Amino acid sequence: MKDKFTVSNFQDCKRNGKKITMLTAYDYPTAKIMDESGIDAILVGDSLGMVVLGYEDTTRVTMDDMVHHTKAVVRGTKKAMVVTDLPFLSYHKGIYESVSNAGRLVCEGGCKAVKLEGGEDVIEDVKAITRAGIPVMGHLGYTPQSVNIFGGHKAQGKTIETAKKIYKDALMLQDAGAFAVVLECVPHKVAKYISSKLDIPAIGIGSGAMCDGQVLVVHDIIGMFREFTPKHTKKYVDMGNALENSVRSYVSDVVEGSFPTEKNSFTVEDEVIDALDKLGL
Ligand code: KIV
Repeated sequence: MKDKFTVSNFQDCKRNGKKITMLTAYDYPTAKIMDESGIDAILVGDSLGMVVLGYEDTTRVTMDDMVHHTKAVVRGTKKAMVVTDLPFLSYHKGIYESVSNAGRLVCEGGCKAVKLEGGEDVIEDVKAITRAGIPVMGHLGYTPQSVNIFGGHKAQGKTIETAKKIYKDALMLQDAGAFAVVLECVPHKVAKYISSKLDIPAIGIGSGAMCDGQVLVVHDIIGMFREFTPKHTKKYVDMGNALENSVRSYVSDVVEGSFPTEKNSFTVEDEVIDALDKLGL
């Protein structure tokens, strides 16, 4: 049996050039299947706001939402390392609140690390959370909580200025104690360059194959989020269609009376029915 994956394994993988595998999960059965399938780390991403709760972006997700889903994922996980997102505005109102919220995710939720978005602006929060004993994963490039600043889902780091900013932010996160950094929708050559300069692993999403690991949103890879399919993802199975077909078949079976059959029912002795009848009600 594989041992539990921890922050030291993130560093070992970086040193040995072994790719780190990570996917999001938001519930017990998904986490359990992923864990049993050998994933290294599971992210309870605030993408749950869109793919599970039906919001248009991640800005409506609350700390309570993240704690609730983290508990379910942790219950389904034996070996994979669970990392949970600090949601929008939960680490922007001062160090005390950032550390308290990160603490809630670990103490109540049971995750082993937290992820937050941003570079220079959140460096003091990263330092304080790490000092409190909670490992922090950074997140740069396209940071979904800033969707209203970016004006939509757009690749970041395509100009000299923005690429420089992402590079410097990644180094600052590393110096502040982050154990890894997600690079989202960063041009693959920029991501490759930054990954090669960092001592901590860079986990890519839409940032090419040369990052130290990859993360994707599970609903995208299984076809359960049908609103849109991001360019950077890969659909391995269409469970959305499978679910739709199953529901359609169930509905027509029930309406036509072909389900349930005797096989799906429980039997009883005739005397029980006779007794009911004798009540004369
Ligand atoms: O919330 C999330 O799922 C994420 C990934 C996109 C990295 O942050």
